[in-house]
Amino acid sequence: MQLNEIKNSELKNWLQSWIDLCAPDDVVICDGTKEQNDGLCNLMVKSGTFIKLSEPENSYLCRSAVSDVARVEERTYICSVKKEDAGPSNHWRDPVEMKAEFNQLFRGCMKGRTLYVIPFSMGPIESPIAKYGIELTDSPYVVVNMCIMTRVGLSVLKKIDNGAEFVKCVHSVGTPLADGEADVPWPCAEMDKKYITHFPETREIISFGSGYGGNALLGKKCFALRIASVQARDEGWMAEHMLILKLTSPEGVVKYIAAAFPSACGKTNLAMMEPTIPGWKVETIGDDIAWMKFGKDGRLYAINPEAGFFGVAPGTSMKSNPNCMRTIAKGNSIFTNVAITMDGGVWWEDHDDDPEELVDWIRRPWKKGDKRKAAHPNARFTTPAAQCPVIAPEWEDPAGVPISAFLFGGRRRTVVPLVNEALDWEHGVFLGATMASEMTAAAAGGQGQLRFDPFAMLPFCGYHMGDYFKHWLKIGEKAGDKAPKIFYVNWFRRDESGKWLWPGYGENSRVLKWVFERCAGEGKSKATAIGNLPTEQAIDLEGIKVDPKDMQELLKVDCQGWKEMLPQIKAHFAKFGDRLPEELNKQLAAMEKRLG
Ligand code: GTP
Ligand code: SPV
Ligand code: MN
Repeated sequence: MQLNEIKNSELKNWLQSWIDLCAPDDVVICDGTKEQNDGLCNLMVKSGTFIKLSEPENSYLCRSAVSDVARVEERTYICSVKKEDAGPSNHWRDPVEMKAEFNQLFRGCMKGRTLYVIPFSMGPIESPIAKYGIELTDSPYVVVNMCIMTRVGLSVLKKIDNGAEFVKCVHSVGTPLADGEADVPWPCAEMDKKYITHFPETREIISFGSGYGGNALLGKKCFALRIASVQARDEGWMAEHMLILKLTSPEGVVKYIAAAFPSACGKTNLAMMEPTIPGWKVETIGDDIAWMKFGKDGRLYAINPEAGFFGVAPGTSMKSNPNCMRTIAKGNSIFTNVAITMDGGVWWEDHDDDPEELVDWIRRPWKKGDKRKAAHPNARFTTPAAQCPVIAPEWEDPAGVPISAFLFGGRRRTVVPLVNEALDWEHGVFLGATMASEMTAAAAGGQGQLRFDPFAMLPFCGYHMGDYFKHWLKIGEKAGDKAPKIFYVNWFRRDESGKWLWPGYGENSRVLKWVFERCAGEGKSKATAIGNLPTEQAIDLEGIKVDPKDMQELLKVDCQGWKEMLPQIKAHFAKFGDRLPEELNKQLAAMEKRLG
């Protein structure tokens, strides 16, 4: 399909106005074909952006600029018409002023570059739950990543041309090239010129100056969470930062579980884990985002709107996540900011191989024993979900899968027990609204600091968080007794010396088993001040050695620790002002009372 074949005037005008403003040397429509993709990869090898790896096959290494390695929340804005609609958890800019500023910033910003038009679908193209978008970008890196992460193709462009609704996404690395000027491997703009902006009322995304992950692959966090959360509120569904997994018991009974953990807190790992308890099976539906709608039977059905995994590389090994290693071993993957071995393979911290020498992610020689990390802590692989050996056969079912349980979780060294079942939906919403986690390398700045991250959506909710809590309460009312059960988990407890108290990874299946049993009306629990905790015998510990003292610690209610959290929770709630649902204050008061 050529530009001049587009008939739809809204689409045509939008495209032309950006082409005129950005002034690219060339415009290319992306068709999602292997030929076009290979051509772009070769182009990036020639320009020094990509290195073709010796293995896995058909895979590339890319190293970003050292300043452009993660999402930049400080430069991320919700440009709603009214400031209060963005709420206290988002940065806000006036949409008219923002666009006026972009009118300057984008002027000629693609000189010397090609503008790529990427028509994409979030969700299977024919699914009634799917939504479409078009991303305009001057980054071939973005194109090849989008081709893995979303469904790119001319059939989407045709649907949009025929009037299908779409989200308008515009992205530029923000570095025009003068005549004859040589490009750098990773062009991007200075921090104070980067903007990741969302216009919720007009369903638009405009991103300037960064080429990395969630800043640039606009189908992911910008569309599938920030814009989609607004659409979900308006249309009565849910767009969540959740993995989706299929859990099958030894008896062959299936339950689907969705889990919200903040960035780099274990979604990819849990989604494709290998259970250590015999007879249990985990299969993957999605590893980062869930879109959920009510089915005719009144249950919530989830789809994975993505088509690939953009996962954290460091820490991934045959020991921690074998199914992920098998997925990337099949090739067709992009590795960003990992280290490269002397024979052209990839490496990162905790990788199974133990090389003597490497070239690190900033192109420096690296020797075994060096203190500095060879891969950036937020180094990522981009890999097709279809290659995952445990992808569930129904992962692309347009109807989605019915959810039995939601898990919330995060990194908490202390206080929060291994698992805790909410007393009911409203209490579950309280648990989600008070989630807190130690910050990770997935976003620039603040690593290790504890912060409230309600529902793992703090950086991703496109509107006022208080209204978002209200939306969760409404969904519960609508779902009634068909609502998923809610649990809070914590794989990240440590002792005073910093040692993990819980082995995690495949051993988390022991917690999943208890969750499964609770959903089936079985599994022993005891009521406590913070929720229903498993009784001492309720977690299956056959075949692992966990010190009974550690287990007690993991399942204890640390009343003192919780009481110390109360003032912080109150301050957190106070930020939402009169948009905080009264139910949550009531839940807080009830917990305070139960703690005594
Ligand atoms: P995003 O893609 O940023 O949204 O992250 P994610 O939630 O998918 O995180 P991921 O599964 O990639 O995990 C990130 C880090 O957490 C990796 O370094 C893992 O090794 C580590 N991790 C995951 N699961 C566990 C666990 O059960 N225990 C411990 N100790 N670490 C874990
Ligand atoms: C996250 O940060 O939660 C991610 C990676 O999944 S990014 O796509 O960069 O947002
Ligand atoms: Mn994520």
